[in-house]
Amino acid sequence: MDLGGGIAESLKNKCILITGSTGFLGKSSSSSARREEDLLGDKSSRFERRDTQVRDKKLFCVLRKIHGKGFEAFMEDKVSAVAGNIMEINLGIKDTNLLDTMFANVNIFVNAAATTNFNERYDVALGTNVLGPKYSMKFAKKCSNFELFMHVSTAYVAGTKQGLLFETKFEMGETLNGNSYLDIDAELNLMKDTLQYHHSNSENKSEIKSMMRSLGMERAKRYGWPNTYVFTKAMGEMVLGDMRGDMPLVIVRPTIITSVYKDPLPGWMEGIRTIDSAIVSYSIGTLECFLVDVNIAMDIIPGDMVSNAMITSIAAHSNNPSETIYHLSSSVRNPVNYSVLLDSCFRFFHAYPRHTKDGTIIKVKKIYKLDTMAKFRTYMRLKYKIPLEGLGIVNVIFCQLFADRYKELSKKYKYVMQLAELYEPFTFFKGVFDDMNVEKLILALNANNNISEAEMLGFDCKYMDWSRYMLDVHIPGLLKYVCD
Ligand SMILES: NC(=O)c1ccc[n+]([C@@H]2O[C@H](COP(=O)([O-])OP(=O)(O)OC[C@H]3O[C@@H](n4cnc5c(N)ncnc54)[C@H](OP(=O)(O)O)[C@@H]3O)[C@@H](O)[C@H]2O)c1
Repeated sequence: MDLGGGIAESLKNKCILITGSTGFLGKSSSSSARREEDLLGDKSSRFERRDTQVRDKKLFCVLRKIHGKGFEAFMEDKVSAVAGNIMEINLGIKDTNLLDTMFANVNIFVNAAATTNFNERYDVALGTNVLGPKYSMKFAKKCSNFELFMHVSTAYVAGTKQGLLFETKFEMGETLNGNSYLDIDAELNLMKDTLQYHHSNSENKSEIKSMMRSLGMERAKRYGWPNTYVFTKAMGEMVLGDMRGDMPLVIVRPTIITSVYKDPLPGWMEGIRTIDSAIVSYSIGTLECFLVDVNIAMDIIPGDMVSNAMITSIAAHSNNPSETIYHLSSSVRNPVNYSVLLDSCFRFFHAYPRHTKDGTIIKVKKIYKLDTMAKFRTYMRLKYKIPLEGLGIVNVIFCQLFADRYKELSKKYKYVMQLAELYEPFTFFKGVFDDMNVEKLILALNANNNISEAEMLGFDCKYMDWSRYMLDVHIPGLLKYVCD
């Protein structure tokens, strides 16, 4: 691996097509790639979202500062937004002139588009996370000056495996529980047949949605994955490995991506995801207990480290006809336990409490920890389920007087229990992600002749003070960019 010529130099005049650029990671990597002043072919979403929706974001403030009044012209020159759908042939692009231009110019394809819903409908998840990579690879194969295909996957394709997990590829048909062969075409046919069956039985939309969700979970569990999201992401990797031939392929597998640590905007993030829903609920006093084993690693990795690693690996692997996997994670390099999250939340919101709408201070308490699912179920039963059953009886006695309240609370209870089941494999995840390939990439970046580039694109989380990051960057960022 040689980065001696410098990353900006090796990416100069390259045309990079990024799918999912309206998403959290897509925006973050687009912003970083643009800093490198490459020619960037960009892709907006299938819903005709224009590039302005991406570039208006605060994330682009650094570029705005650098280019001042010339920012718009710079972006016009460097970026084209294309509406498309990765679930369709040619990414759903019908304009043949545009297609010809793209086939002639695109050098690097970054597939960051995905559905990240754990409990997604099976048809949507297969379409986006399996057919999406397939059609993207087919598109890349039509590009005459192609150099590298990069696919963003997730470290949790490892399911509930334990111990040290290596950066190894999936073989086609591999399962996590050794249960027979995973036939992806058969899964696609099963999904289509099931969908057709439900449609022909004239079931309503919400029934079909619920059936297709259950089907995804059932198929995932059958082959050893805990949910539809990670199952279909694993299948997406298999499809790419199988199709690539000698095309250079890099698969990055991030763990939990958190806010930008440094560049371009510390604390920036979008949407409330994974650990952030717990932080926000805690800050407003609605989270009384947390289902977590505080001694296991909360495998987080800041967004800018993910995009910097992606850019560096593009430069490192272009035109190299191999398949390489990168675990973008912290559990081996610099592990951080969930206790850091809980302590940071308490310290932060104790010092800077939030207020209710009428200005009352929301006082936070040390959180009650439940370190097994069994304890959580008992807690929920005693605190909520038994009183709820009591309300059910009272409701019957009083001729449905409390029917609405009973229905609402039952729904909430069911939702919380479903959420806990869905997140259980992650909060109690007992694997750690080996990152030997990342180590090699860091060494190559640091050996690069361009020192400032190595500093700017650094993605080594080894020296991160996670507690400081939580207190000074992540929690304030969450409040500023997401909650305000
Ligand atoms: N966030 C994390 O913590 C995390 C961790 C590990 C791995 N990852 C991986 O990182 C990647 C990006 O995740 P993210 O958090 O940035 O997700 P995100 O914010 O949900 O963004 C997903 C993007 O994919 C696009 N998309 C979905 N279906 C599409 C389709 N059929 N055609 C074209 N575009 C489509 C979405 O466009 P619309 O807005 O139009 O739907 C959106 O731009 C995913 O591959 C995910 O698996 C994320």
